[in-house]
Amino acid sequence: MYWNEEQQSGGSNISPMEFVERSLEEIRFWSRIMKEHSLFLRLGFRCEDTQLIAEANQFFHIFERIEQQSHAFTNQTDPMTIRRFNSEVQVAAANIYAFKRKVLGLILSCQLPGANNFPLLVDHISREANYFRKRLIELNEGKLVPLADAIIKENVFFLRIMADHAKFIGHLLDPSERKLVDIARNFSNDFDELLFQARDLDGMRPYSQTVPLLDQFLDQNRVSVVSLRDFKKTARDLIEECKIKSIIHPLLADHVYREADHFLTIIDMFDAHLTGTNV
Ligand SMILES: [Fe+2]
Ligand SMILES: [Fe+2]
Repeated sequence: MYWNEEQQSGGSNISPMEFVERSLEEIRFWSRIMKEHSLFLRLGFRCEDTQLIAEANQFFHIFERIEQQSHAFTNQTDPMTIRRFNSEVQVAAANIYAFKRKVLGLILSCQLPGANNFPLLVDHISREANYFRKRLIELNEGKLVPLADAIIKENVFFLRIMADHAKFIGHLLDPSERKLVDIARNFSNDFDELLFQARDLDGMRPYSQTVPLLDQFLDQNRVSVVSLRDFKKTARDLIEECKIKSIIHPLLADHVYREADHFLTIIDMFDAHLTGTNV
């Protein structure tokens, strides 16, 4: 769990059942994401980058195995087994994070001229790996982040992720898709603005952490995330049907759609906890 319903006490622990359930949910979602990042990195390397291609393939297989393993476990699996699994996955996440940062360094020092991954994309996927890694550490520590802090922290993280996605889509669409490029640019501006608002709210902590302010914050973010998610879904379908011109891999289109959907699930869970409704 990211949050603690008795936010004032701050001392309650996650139950063993919640721990197993939450760990498996996170690993199932993020291991697939990490596996796909390995594929995107590989596709962006040049043919001569054989060493980097081999490393990316290795990560693909590591996360594929982790994903399969996470589906083999159930909510009844012994918490100690899951604890060990979390630690193993955390090491894999730390390794792929280091690999992505290394690639970013190579791109920014112009050592991979002509490679096809934007520096911001590589930075973005490294942030996602680091988020995954930190989530696993938090889970194993059994700490519950107070609800009000979790709401702001998670939104700051995911709003930036969404703003990046809009930028990637805008840049990977063919420039002749003028209407779609325009829509993507508007989403990028919208999410940049929401991100600044979130950071403002963060700066005003703890006074900004009132139920009405946080509730409005979630509602406002939700509206934009729903429309971005729907736009990504449409783009994904159009790409799959070969109806638009772009250099977006269909799996990348689906990938960013799933991440938006994941953010929405988090917003809804926060909202339910904040207003006391059960999910
Ligand atoms: Fe991703
Ligand atoms: Fe992403």
